[in-house]
Amino acid sequence: MSQLKAFPKGFLWGGATAANQCEGAYDADGRGLANVDVVPIGEDREAIITGKKKMFDFEEGYFYPAKKSIDMYHHFKEDIALFGEMGFKTYRLSIGWTRIFPKGDELEPNEAGLQFYEDLFKECHKHGIEPLVTITHFDCPMHLIKEYGGWRNRKMLVFYERLCRTLFTRFKGLVKYWLTFNEINMILHAPFMGAGLYFEAGENQDLVKYQAAHHELVASAIATKLAHEIDPENKVGCMLAAGQYYPNTCHPRDVWEGLQEDRENYFFIDVQSRGEYPNYAKKKWEKLGLELEMTEEDLTLLKKHTVDFISFSYYSSRVASGEPDVKDKTQGNIFASIKNPYLDASEWGWQIDPLGLRITLNTIWDRYQKPMFIVENGLGAVDQPDENGYVEDDYRIDYLREHIKAMNDAINIDGVDLMGYTTWGCIDLVSAGTGEMKKRYGFIYVDRDNQGNGTLRRSKKKSFDWYKRVIASNGTEL
Ligand code: BG6
Repeated sequence: MSQLKAFPKGFLWGGATAANQCEGAYDADGRGLANVDVVPIGEDREAIITGKKKMFDFEEGYFYPAKKSIDMYHHFKEDIALFGEMGFKTYRLSIGWTRIFPKGDELEPNEAGLQFYEDLFKECHKHGIEPLVTITHFDCPMHLIKEYGGWRNRKMLVFYERLCRTLFTRFKGLVKYWLTFNEINMILHAPFMGAGLYFEAGENQDLVKYQAAHHELVASAIATKLAHEIDPENKVGCMLAAGQYYPNTCHPRDVWEGLQEDRENYFFIDVQSRGEYPNYAKKKWEKLGLELEMTEEDLTLLKKHTVDFISFSYYSSRVASGEPDVKDKTQGNIFASIKNPYLDASEWGWQIDPLGLRITLNTIWDRYQKPMFIVENGLGAVDQPDENGYVEDDYRIDYLREHIKAMNDAINIDGVDLMGYTTWGCIDLVSAGTGEMKKRYGFIYVDRDNQGNGTLRRSKKKSFDWYKRVIASNGTEL
């Protein structure tokens, strides 16, 4: 155990989940079908989440893990009590859009869905936990995809605004931290999951993706505007799948490539935080011959309603090369990167780089100077529980310890402004990338396997007590 300087007073320690990866109960109490329900485990998953293979409904011969997931819908009291026992200050969760608007384009919300989240937020407060709510975490009603083509369609602005207004009004006083879109940059890499985009043959995919991105960015600005109008206490953040690109060598060509790759991600946050499209993006569209449809009013909304803070997920740094022959790649969050020979990797090939977190924090801080929030970080690993469901997960503790130290350095040595830290999958849940259950991130083990077998019993891992101590000591006892 090492001693460190404390984190800032009021630092928001906690954990994070997403509705479709933990709630299950996909058709309970009027919930409608969403894109995230129809992505099966197995070899077709990647083609489906990237919009290359069409899967608009459940099909024979596939297993859909999100249907039941870890059934948090029926276990949330027990789960939140465990988060409370660990001392969570905050719990990041997302709204299942189709629980509130089952088809997405209704005028009136589904009361049962609203009641579910109201009960859940009240349960959080009962345990002294502040909810941090992602409005959409890879979540789009299937009806909106079938009828309107998902986020390619401008009408999505109206449906999303209605969702936001409903949430901000109903949960005023219960929720004050909101994130508009999870990992908004994933629209470029997993367009069906990120934005309900399925591509027809011959379509200009770049045009569709950037047009959909424009709609999401404007929707995010509208949400920020509304959130502030409805309750000035509300704080709204954007959310980026972050991870600094390193050049593969010091050849200027590789450094240039790294800059380009970083820009592809920062593009979204440049708009959400600075309020306008960066010149490099406009030049890129020009070069690609993309003419996006956007109105003056859109640009004014973007300019006027920028986010209050910047949240991001961090699992690993990435590597870029301007040399086309460099082919040694490794897996990462949704998309692969060139392998970094200096780093170890998880069982899924995601490379482990705590210093990369400090580098990423400093880069984002230097670029935007807005408070930051790390809303995902963690190690996906295979756990071996004993007969009581106890797991000696020292590998997870090691991973988190090193990343927390890096955060501490960034705050106490470098002076970045970090509001909080929510580890990903604080309770085991379904993997977004692979659909597996065996890729576990949690402090709490859930008895369920890749095929859906198991009792769903919850049990504490070794990391449970460790994280409890980390929080109780405000990050000084690691
Ligand atoms: C992020 C997502 O991409 O990474 C989460 O916001 C996801 O939904 C997490 O679960 C970890 O990825 P994976 O593929 O291991 O579940």
